[in-house]
Amino acid sequence: MATERTLSIIKPDATKRNLTGKINAKFEDAGLRIVAQKRIHLTPAQAGKFYEVHAERPFYGELCEFMASGPVVVQVLEGEGAIAKNREVMGATNPKDAAPGTVRAEFAESVGENSVHGSDAPETAKEEIAYFFAGLELVG
Ligand code: CMP
Repeated sequence: MATERTLSIIKPDATKRNLTGKINAKFEDAGLRIVAQKRIHLTPAQAGKFYEVHAERPFYGELCEFMASGPVVVQVLEGEGAIAKNREVMGATNPKDAAPGTVRAEFAESVGENSVHGSDAPETAKEEIAYFFAGLELVG
């Protein structure tokens, strides 16, 4: 399997509870390398642009408001099959459906406040990484 990069976000519910290190340990234990990382506070407009694909969904307003409610840690994870591997480590979107040991099973509070985001495909990973990082910030 090829080496890939994927965009990960540690969401406000998790940064608020000081869980960045515990979540990063799960990524690293799974063989994912954090090749870029920064803590930022999104505006609702910046969150809205990132989640534009969900603009028609009933939860869009709530999602943008939540993502701008506190700091997030945006990061790029690298590894073999990193996109799928990260989704495995995160667990299902709804923590009620997430497998034991996954980030969302252990830490997520609800389907909306679900602690982490990860890109879902190579094309979205490329776009999402470029939304937050310049090429020079990725240090493999
Ligand atoms: P994420 O992987 O960041 O991608 C889109 C996000 O929308 C998702 O995680 C959830 O946080 C959020 N989301 C999905 N479904 C719902 C829902 N039914 N209610 C609120 N938020 C949702």
